Amino acid sequence: MTRPVLIALPGNEARAGRLAEALNAERIDLDYRRFPDGESYLRIDAELAGRDVVLVATLDRPDPKIPRLLFAADLVRDLGARTVLLVASYLPYMRQDRRFHPGEALTSVSFARRISTSFDGLITVDPHLHRYPTLDAVYTIPGRVVSAAPAVADWIVSSIARPVVIGPDEESEQWARAVAEPHGLPWRVMTKDRFGDHDVRITAPDLTGLDGHQPVLVDDILSSGATLADAARVLVEAGLPVPACAVVHGLFGDRARETLTEAGIETVVCTDTVDAPEARIGLADRIAPAVRRLLPAAR
Ligand code: R5P
Repeated sequence: MTRPVLIALPGNEARAGRLAEALNAERIDLDYRRFPDGESYLRIDAELAGRDVVLVATLDRPDPKIPRLLFAADLVRDLGARTVLLVASYLPYMRQDRRFHPGEALTSVSFARRISTSFDGLITVDPHLHRYPTLDAVYTIPGRVVSAAPAVADWIVSSIARPVVIGPDEESEQWARAVAEPHGLPWRVMTKDRFGDHDVRITAPDLTGLDGHQPVLVDDILSSGATLADAARVLVEAGLPVPACAVVHGLFGDRARETLTEAGIETVVCTDTVDAPEARIGLADRIAPAVRRLLPAAR
């Protein structure tokens, strides 16, 4: 059986290198540049006929990345690839999963439709499923979801003494539970009201019985930092130490680091789904088996 081929979209070279090693895949380069007017030029100088090709493209801050991703998928198919998979360790456009106000674009559906047309399968890490129960509810191609929880849990138990895992809002309960329970760690979930992109109000649950524990806030996304910052303030006001933060996707929007620092937070780690200095939890070994399961030999 020939080895799968991994191709990194620009900026994903290190991520693709880690995944190629975990997958024992062949790396092939994409020659990508922009014309002076900003249009994309792509070339692959390799034989891809009959090969199973995996494009590696995390899609935080997605809009400039999407046209070249779709062009690359078309190119690989034009060159005769048998299978074209996408590993998007951060999958965007999950937020607008319904029309909250008349006339709004259902971008989750539009984006999923385009990806489902261009690829034969999608592998991602903890997509922000809110009102969609699964990826299949919106993507029509086979999808595999990798859970970052075991890797986040490994980091917590190896780095933090006497941790208590705290989800900053109701949605984070799934991650807090998945991180804490396999290790028998105590865990709690806070409640959150959001009033704007940077304005949240968090309420503490019952925090009795946690004396001597180090809180670790666990969430799927860090964007503005407002959620973790407010959760940290509430925990400190309740008499707990300043929490550490362990996040799956560290998006770090404008001023996020300042917001966290102003809340007294010193320790933030993320997985490597998105590039950031805080991305210290590698997931390649967990993504590789999910890719293998979508390759034709396994289907
Ligand atoms: C919310 O539903 C998510 O799980 C995160 O809590 C949220 O996206 C974090 O965003 P921010 O850092 O802007 O508060």
